[in-house]
Parts: sequence; C-alpha cells; structure tokens
Amino acid sequence: MKKFYITTPIYYVNAKPHIGHAYTQVICDCITRSHKMFGRDAFFLTGTDEHGEKIEEACLEAGFEKGREKDFVDAIVDKFKEAWQKLNIRYTYFIRTTDEIHEKEVQDFLNKMKEKGDIYAGEYDGWFCTPCETFWTDTQAEGGVCPDCNRKVDRIKEKNYFFKMSKYQKWLIDHINENPDFIMPGYRRNEVLGFLKEELNDLCISRPKERMAWGIELPFDKDYVVYVWFDALINYTSGIKAAKEGFDEVWPADFHIIAKDILRHHAVYWPIILKSMGMPLPKTVFAHGWWKMGEEKMSKSKGNIVDPVELSDKYGVDALRYFVIKAISLGLDGVFSEEALVTIYNSDLANDLGNLLNRTLTMVEKYFDGIVPEAPEGFGCDEQKNRSREIKKEICEIFLIINDRVFNKELLLKEALEEIMAVVNIANKYIEESAPWKYAKEENTDAIKIILLDLLEALRVTTIALYPFMPETSQKMWDQLGLGGKIEEEVSVEELLDASKADSSDWRRFPAGTKVAKGDPLFPRIQ
Ligand code: ME8
Repeated sequence: MKKFYITTPIYYVNAKPHIGHAYTQVICDCITRSHKMFGRDAFFLTGTDEHGEKIEEACLEAGFEKGREKDFVDAIVDKFKEAWQKLNIRYTYFIRTTDEIHEKEVQDFLNKMKEKGDIYAGEYDGWFCTPCETFWTDTQAEGGVCPDCNRKVDRIKEKNYFFKMSKYQKWLIDHINENPDFIMPGYRRNEVLGFLKEELNDLCISRPKERMAWGIELPFDKDYVVYVWFDALINYTSGIKAAKEGFDEVWPADFHIIAKDILRHHAVYWPIILKSMGMPLPKTVFAHGWWKMGEEKMSKSKGNIVDPVELSDKYGVDALRYFVIKAISLGLDGVFSEEALVTIYNSDLANDLGNLLNRTLTMVEKYFDGIVPEAPEGFGCDEQKNRSREIKKEICEIFLIINDRVFNKELLLKEALEEIMAVVNIANKYIEESAPWKYAKEENTDAIKIILLDLLEALRVTTIALYPFMPETSQKMWDQLGLGGKIEEEVSVEELLDASKADSSDWRRFPAGTKVAKGDPLFPRIQ
C-alpha cells in the first residue's frame, strides 16, 4: 500500500534554524505522528539545501575559502539536526543536496529533460536576487529591487541553459483548475492562478562556473552548474531513493508543506519539471503563513530571529510545539512574542491540562489509595448519572473529530488542538460541578467512583489525542496515569476508530486495578 508522504522545504544552510523553520517541522511531525497513530505508514522527508550563491557567500563571510564549502555546510547541517532532535521531530530521512545520490538524480533529470528537448542554450539577460535565489524580469524588478524581499537585485547577462516552462503553462493552469486540492489554502491557489495570467518565462537553470562554481555540474556542459532551485526541488524524489524506499510506494507526495514565500517554486516550477519528466504530481502543496517580528517576516538574512532551541530549553519542548500550533490557523501569519507564549503556557498547559491531571490523580490517591476502582452498578444518584452521560459523549467523539480536522486538506491542526483542550476544559468543569468532596462527606462511594472513572477516561483519551502535538508530555501523562509502556505502541487503531463505543455501557477503557503514579506538575506555572 502507498505510504503517506509528507515533506518540508529543505533549508538553506547559511545560518542556524529559527522559529519559522521549527514551525514547518512541528506541523509535519504532528501530521506524520497522527497518521502513524491512526495506523497508516508514513514517510516524512526533511533536509538541507546546500548549494548556490547564497551559501557560498555565507561560507566566505564565515572565513572559509572557496573550495571548502562542504566543511562550512557540514557544521550548519549538524545544527539543524540537533535542533530537530531537540524538538522531537521524528523524520524518516534527512536529505542533503550534497549527497551523491541526490547529485546523480539531478543530473538524470537534466539529461532526460534535455533529450526531450525541454532544455536549450540561450542568453540570460535579466535580474537576479541573491538572497531569494530568484530571477526577475525588468517589469518584476522595477526600480532594481526584488519584488519579494525589497533588496537590491543584480543585472546578469550571460550564456545559460533554459528550461521551456512556457510550453507547459496552459497544461498547468488546467491542472490547478481541475484539482482544487493541488494548492492549499484556496486563497493561495488564486494567487498562483493570478501569476499564471502573465506569460511564463522559460527558467534559467544554469550558472557559469567562472562566476559561481558551488553547485551540481551540468551533465552536458562542464563549464556550468545547475541553478540551486532546480537542484533543490529534486530532493523530493532523490530523498526517497536515498532512504532506499520503493519509489512507487512513496511517490507522489501527499503534502509538500512550505511557507507562502516559496509557493511559486513549488506550485509552478516543480509541477512543470515533473510533467516534463512524465512523473505524477504531488497531491497538495500547502503554503502556511509567516512568523513575523513586529511587521517584518522573521528571517535569517534580516537577523530578527528567535532560536527555537533556546526557547525550548527555557519553557520545554512541548510548550513551544503547543504554542506554534495553537497560536495560528495554518495559512495565516502570526506575530511572535514570548509574552504570548507565556500566557498560553500558563492558561492552557499549567492551569487547564496540568491541573486536570493533578487534581484527578490526587483524588484517586485520596479516595482509593491510588488504585483505579471497578465501575459500580449504579451512578450513586440521578444528578451524577446525567452529568456522566454528557461527558461520555464528548469523550467518545474526540477521535472522530480529530480525524476530521487533522486529515482535512485544510490541515486544521489548531482547530483539532482546540477540540482536545475543550475536552480538558469540560473535564475541569465536571470536577467543579459534581464536587466529589461533597459525595465524600455523604459517603456516596458510587458517585465518587463514577466521577473519577469519567475523569480518568477523559484524561486517557486526551493523552492519546495530544500525542502527535506534544509527544513528550503525552508520555509523561501516560506514565502518571499508570498505563505503562510507550504510548504510541499501546494505542490500538481499532480503538481510536471505534465509533460504536458511545452506544455501549462499558465505554470507559481505563483498566480497573491500575495503580496511578502522580508525579511532578507537568507545567509549573511561570510567574
Ligand atoms: O527557501 N515563518 O530555504 P529557507 C514561517 N532552500 N516559516 C518560515 C519562516 C517564517 N518567518 N522563515 C522560514 C528555502 N520559514 C529553500 C527551500 S525547498 C525545495 C527549498 C520556513 O531556509 C518555511 O517552511 O529560506 C519556508 O518555506 C522555509 O522555512 C524557507 O527556508
């Protein structure tokens, strides 16, 4: 069966990663973990983009001589890998564009496309923005500045090789119109269709070595290297081969997750390259928004970055993962602020989630010596019976709702997280309203048992549901609940998809006799 295949952009190795990069990683990790949790085999590719002028400039600036680019990039690649490890990003494979297998794949693409007549030699006369690694026409680069980043562009006039993109323009427009899921969210699709109203220029895909030699050599002209974007996009297929996966079991990609600044490369250049190669297209290119600092996009070249490793050292990795998903609906921009992170941490994680676990386990210890009781025959009283019925519905529906949100082409991750936290809030309210201490005074043990069993079940399902978002916290909760083992191995797919349990009387799956193990608070309040 075909695997679910999701990719991140491969990041430039001119500086260490920031929150923007971490955001894309967390999104992809969360989606991959969700698929795996629901029993689907998933392949998650990430990596680094290591060639081109921008990297060469950074290398020279760092004091490395020409020819020593690989030493420079090796050190930065380690920083990316360390950051992803720290953030619990469990990718399947890490592709580097300096890997031999990738270089060979790029040359294979070039040879085939040249044989087909889609690559030709000509003269490039136009503008180039080095920080964006992008070519612009006179109209686009009006006033000598890049329309994307507003920085100065360079005039270039030289012999180069071109890819006949114009040949495929009509076909691409039809493809986008016939496949509304191809570019998501919908407003980005309209943006690309708007761009495609103008006649598409053929793409300059080479660089003369005498000007810039840090790249993959053209197989049909040793004086040239390939344009870095043409090199980079091919990582999405070379990565599968490097990972030694069966190509047809993985390709085409289900999702290329990117930010909106590189949409044109993914939604125009890449599908046309694939079409020229006669290969199937990815199902969805999803462009999320930007993390900004004030009004400006957070970016390495602007230097206004926040280090995700420092933040997770300070607040914990899951506080960071939770925050970036909770703060913005996928697709929109968000302004980063540490105060906002602290506010969300204190309200959602310390108050709501942490407290629910703590209060529930404290009561299991107090009333039942820490051992989960058997369910009683009755409810203790009618009032409790009604309350229990209400919370049962919320608990039993949670996985159906998550299924609907996370596996939606709109990628409603924030919305899924909010549904989970809604159950947490309902459970906290349930404690207040049913007031188990009141039943304790009345010695109504059945009512207390029902309350605690409902709460434990609410905690058990929210712990599972939170796993893709906050794997470390979820495991800690699982341990404190006394459920034992590794959460991702303990949960059965059948159970998650069992919608019928809401109709059964033994809908609670929390095993009686379990010894709970209350531990330190999950999220100590930050003052
Ligand atoms: O573009 N907000 O690499 P890159 C949100 N090598 N996401 C952000 C962000 C921000 N402020 N800043 C960066 C490249 N990102 C090419 C890609 S792919 C074949 C080649 C994330 O290092 C986001 O995913 O500039 C964006 O698309 C990516 O980092 C750009 O990383």
